[in-house]
Amino acid sequence: MITVFGSLNVDYIFQVPQLPAPGETVLASNMQVLPGGKGANQAVAAARAGAKVRMVGAVGRDGLSEIALAGLLDAGVDTSAVAQSTKPTGTAAINVDAQGENAITVSSGANLDARGDSLDEKNLTPRTTVLLQMEVPMTAMADLIQRARKKGACIVWNLAPMQSVDLALLKQVDCLIVNEGELNQLHSEFHQTREPNNYSAKDVEQKAWDIFTLTRQSVVVTLGANGTLAVHNNTLLTVPALAISPVDTVGAGDAFTGAFTAALDRGETFPVALRWGNVAGGLACLETGAQSSLPTAAQISEHLAALPGA
Ligand code: RIB
Repeated sequence: MITVFGSLNVDYIFQVPQLPAPGETVLASNMQVLPGGKGANQAVAAARAGAKVRMVGAVGRDGLSEIALAGLLDAGVDTSAVAQSTKPTGTAAINVDAQGENAITVSSGANLDARGDSLDEKNLTPRTTVLLQMEVPMTAMADLIQRARKKGACIVWNLAPMQSVDLALLKQVDCLIVNEGELNQLHSEFHQTREPNNYSAKDVEQKAWDIFTLTRQSVVVTLGANGTLAVHNNTLLTVPALAISPVDTVGAGDAFTGAFTAALDRGETFPVALRWGNVAGGLACLETGAQSSLPTAAQISEHLAALPGA
């Protein structure tokens, strides 16, 4: 079973011709109000990919909480450990441009009151996978990671959006997932090198090795259209992306993380789990919205063969 500890938001998604520059106003052709939040998105992604999932987090005592919870309930996620806060439900303003690229601003609200201690001790066992992101307080995440480590659970941490993090904590996690920008931020936190503006695929590979050497845990780097690179068990793995024309990349990283974690949780090998993640990430870009576009296990299986290297 997967326990996701993370954010629940309501997303306000604006379709715009181009992302606004500083000081610019752009007119949106459409706006949708949909459930989101990296935690909830990944919980839904894992459930659609076939896992049993429990969500731990917090929403407000307001009308928006119903929207924030709707996708989880629809996907069969256990929401009994989602607390109610006096703060408003978290929200996100998301601009999506004509190429499907996005820019996101989050107002955390109730997510700041998310606590891992609402999770009963009996729900942390060696058969539990704990999945976290970075949209709830660091102290609460650190507390849950330490409890989960003591109980022998498998811990997957998607360091998004990246914030400063203790090396000692990273070492307690089995698998770290970052995108290219997050990898650079993480790398510069622990290595005193100047980050160039332009860097090559070799630089990405080297940085992933550096983080692996430092933490001794698996490191996964999602590279969008360039697929995924990982360092696992002292071995470099690369998996290509599904060939698609993206409509909306919101939640693509969440789709990857949820489906990848679901595959690991049911005992697939690391390389197979990466392929599940890549296919889910690609399919999630074919529709608007973070949760509405998340593929089912059957859809992922159907497209696995289309991924080069099958
Ligand atoms: O990863 C996409 C998510 O980031 C959105 O759903 C938004 O709520 C923010 O948390």
